[in-house]
Amino acid sequence: MITVKNLTKKYKDLTVLNNISLEIDDGEIYGIVGVSGVGKSTLLGCLNGLETYSQGTVCVDGTYVEKLKGRELREFRKNMGMIFQSFSLIGRKTVYQNIAFPMECWGYQRTEIDRRVRELAGLVGIEDKLPERPDNLSGGQKQRVAIARALMLEPKYILCDECTSALDPRTTNSILNLLRDICEKLGITIILVTHEMSVIKRICQKIAILEDGRIAESGSVRQIFSEQPEALLNLTGEERRQEILSGSCLLEVKETDLKKIQMLMQENNLDYRERKKEEIIC
Ligand SMILES: Nc1ncnc2c1ncn2[C@@H]1O[C@H](COP(=O)(O)OP(=O)(O)OP(=O)(O)O)[C@@H](O)[C@H]1O
Ligand SMILES: [Mg+2]
Repeated sequence: MITVKNLTKKYKDLTVLNNISLEIDDGEIYGIVGVSGVGKSTLLGCLNGLETYSQGTVCVDGTYVEKLKGRELREFRKNMGMIFQSFSLIGRKTVYQNIAFPMECWGYQRTEIDRRVRELAGLVGIEDKLPERPDNLSGGQKQRVAIARALMLEPKYILCDECTSALDPRTTNSILNLLRDICEKLGITIILVTHEMSVIKRICQKIAILEDGRIAESGSVRQIFSEQPEALLNLTGEERRQEILSGSCLLEVKETDLKKIQMLMQENNLDYRERKKEEIIC
């Protein structure tokens, strides 16, 4: 269980996290959302002991992270697998060597490393890619390698920082399904930072919405999405804006016109998808 109490983190004069408190239960998939620059990655860094903070405590299974130093901190961090948007694979190493890397760093025996690499490659579905270099893999396959590597030291927690943001929607779904299976099968707790609401809805049980360095809302995903508090609406507004900026266009249409517009789109070979009732994106 992770308990964060009154956490404040500053970079010089900039207060990035301001009196944050939250609790993450074992076995949960916990989403952290907020606009770019709000402090999501910084919060993850505080949870796994990469970042220091000026006030407050982070307690993981009874251990206060801010009190750890040197080897104790490195041991603690074995328990926290990380997955990033950019995969962070080593290009000159093979998939096998990338997955093996954390255990090699800790000096495990070759036979033990080999057994674990093959077991995890099987779990994430990339057994046939072990001799390849990362450059020869698709984005989804690269992320599977990164997930296997994150699981190497048998962590209790996996921290995901925008781990599906570089993937197309179908690959995103397959990676999310994999994470959910892993969470259930291995009893791992997942903390997932994202700006995609669809990701939250799909696999998270709880979320915290960060706004101006504070937790504006937190609770069960079902409750937050049914109550639609202002912090959530601010974010979904931002998501729409991003979609429009990325080249797609959101049309708000009357339900009675929807069929006509869809036919027009199809006739002209234009891509479109329905977003929710009375909205399409093209
Ligand atoms: N090492 C650093 N030194 C100074 N300021 C930093 C440092 N790291 C982050 N910041 C600042 O802290 C704020 C929060 O950054 P952070 O990377 O945590 O945001 P984020 O929510 O993860 O954003 P994004 O969604 O774009 O990844 C930003 O204003 C950023 O410029
Ligand atoms: Mg970030």
